[in-house]
Amino acid sequence: MTTRKTRVFSGIQPSGMLHIGNYLGAIQQWVAGQGQKTNFICIVDLHAITVPQDPEALRRQTRELAALLIASGIDPQQTTLFVQSHVRAHAEGCWVLNCVTPLGWLERMTQYKTKAQKQESVLTGLLDYPVLQAADILLYDTDEVPVGDDQKQHIELARDIAGRFNHLFGETFVVPKPVIRESGARIMALNDPSAKMSKSDFTRGHAIRITDTPDEIRWVVKRAVTDPGRDISFSADPDRAGVNNLLQIYELFTGQSRAAIEAHFAGKGYGALKTDVAEAVIEGLRPIRERFDQLITDPAELDRLLAIGAEHARAVADPKIRLMMERVGFVLPA
Ligand code: TYM
Repeated sequence: MTTRKTRVFSGIQPSGMLHIGNYLGAIQQWVAGQGQKTNFICIVDLHAITVPQDPEALRRQTRELAALLIASGIDPQQTTLFVQSHVRAHAEGCWVLNCVTPLGWLERMTQYKTKAQKQESVLTGLLDYPVLQAADILLYDTDEVPVGDDQKQHIELARDIAGRFNHLFGETFVVPKPVIRESGARIMALNDPSAKMSKSDFTRGHAIRITDTPDEIRWVVKRAVTDPGRDISFSADPDRAGVNNLLQIYELFTGQSRAAIEAHFAGKGYGALKTDVAEAVIEGLRPIRERFDQLITDPAELDRLLAIGAEHARAVADPKIRLMMERVGFVLPA
């Protein structure tokens, strides 16, 4: 029996600047698994245009995201890092999967419902978003999809679509599983610990962006919403979500155990907690910001790395899309 390394696929949208939720929920996991597993990380520009985007901003943000991912530790030698629109099989695969996916499955998606509420006119692509995501994952025979908690429903849908296609046309896809870490799966907004930190909320104080200056980080953390209590401990109590969120951020940036963290803060107040959290975030992000500032000065080098990534991705995705087309009954181009 031939054994192959575990295949990992994940994606991230080039819309808006990355925040520490993206970093702690997803990117840190991708970096940690690098080397032992076969990793594909995709900058999903086709997904980004499911809500209106300014073309020049999208182009700039796509390169910025590539630079930020590399600065965060994604090594293009070890991970296939590429842009989704560079690999045509994603759009083609989405079409084929559209034609086995019942509409009702898409109308149930909670992220669609939330995003649709915010749009004056809802684009067809927004409803279809999770089918494109399923194509992303299934084209690479993906075993594991490391994501934040908000993507769980989309990965479950990809599993259902894979199962249905396999049932209708014979074994074609590996059925993937989501990998969601316990801490960091859902980093909350600093100005409202009942809401998820989000790329599309630009209110000052909502998020910490990976490229924020130390002063901005101190400003945001100092104003983070906590609760009237005094106790500094990890907790699942929704009334204590603010303190719990700050502790998780501290845990993930310092790598310390929960017991050590609670001991460190025993007898201290929320002021001390905020000071220490801000400094841990600043120190954790410093090398990323420095490397990002360097990388972004050379867009040609970023484009070169992305072209290599796309070539590697096509080598896996192209045979798979041919197989899909063959299975559904197309005459393959000679
Ligand atoms: P996107 O770009 O919204 O987010 C990228 C990753 O960051 C995670 N994330 C969070 N984790 C913890 N706390 C938060 N507050 C937080 N906010 C975001 C997300 O869960 C995600 O893992 N649909 C995907 C992109 C995608 C994809 C894929 C993912 C397209 N194709 C295939 C996996 C596999 C998305 O919008 O990610």
